[in-house]
Amino acid sequence: MAEVLKAGRGLELRPLNLRDARALFALVEANRDRLRRWLPWPDANRSVLDSRAFILRVRVQARLGSAQSFGLWWEERLVGIAGFVWIDPANRSAAIGYWLAREVEGHGLMTASVSALLRHGFRSLKLNRIEIRAGTRNRRSRAIPQRLGFRHEGTLRQAERLGDRFVDHAVYGLLAAEWGAR
Ligand SMILES: CC(C)(COP(=O)(O)OP(=O)(O)OC[C@H]1O[C@@H](n2cnc3c(N)ncnc32)[C@H](O)[C@@H]1OP(=O)(O)O)[C@@H](O)C(=O)NCCC(=O)NCCS
Repeated sequence: MAEVLKAGRGLELRPLNLRDARALFALVEANRDRLRRWLPWPDANRSVLDSRAFILRVRVQARLGSAQSFGLWWEERLVGIAGFVWIDPANRSAAIGYWLAREVEGHGLMTASVSALLRHGFRSLKLNRIEIRAGTRNRRSRAIPQRLGFRHEGTLRQAERLGDRFVDHAVYGLLAAEWGAR
C-alpha cells in the first residue's frame, strides 16, 4: 500500500480505508451538485455502500499498481480526494485526478496535494510522465497544472460525457526531467 504523503500546512494524503466510507459519503452528498458539473460518477454514488465499494476498488487498484487514490485530510477533517486515477507501469506514465469540498476551495490545498503527488510519483513510483486532464471550461481545475509548471499539450475534443453534454479536455503533461530541473 502507498504511504501517507505530507503536503504541509497540516494537510495529509492518506490511503483510503473502509472506516472513511461514512465521512466520504457525507462529503459527496454535501458537494454532489457542483461535482456533477465536472465529474461523471456522483449520480452513481447514492449510499455509504457505494462509497465502501469505491474504497474497496481503489485499495485493490493500489495493490495491483494500476491506480492510487488518497483521502485529503486537513486539520483531521476529510476534505477531498486526489490521486493517480491510472498508472501505466510499462510506460512509467500516470494521470492525476482530484476534487475538493467547496468550503475549503481557494486556500491552495489542491495545488499543495498535487505537488505532493508529483514528488511521490517521480521519486517513489519512478514515473517519467504525469498528466492532468481538465474540462476546457473548468478554470479552477486548469489553474492547478498551470501553477505547477505543466505544459499544455493540446485539446481532446468531446473526450468525456457528463450528463447530456460532451466536454472537451485540456491535456497537461509534466516530464520527470522538467520536474527535476525546477
Ligand atoms: C478543481 C478544484 C479541486 C480546485 O480547487 P481550488 O481550491 O481552486 O484549488 P487549490 O486548492 O489549489 O486553490 C487555489 C486557489 O487558492 C488560492 N491560494 C491561496 N493560497 C494559495 C497557495 N499557497 N498556493 C496556491 N494557491 C493558493 C489561489 O489563488 C486560488 O484561488 P483563485 O482561483 O481564487 O485565484 C475544485 O474547484 C473542485 O473540486 N472542483 C470540482 C471538481 C473538479 O472539477 N475536479 C477536477 C476535474 S478535472
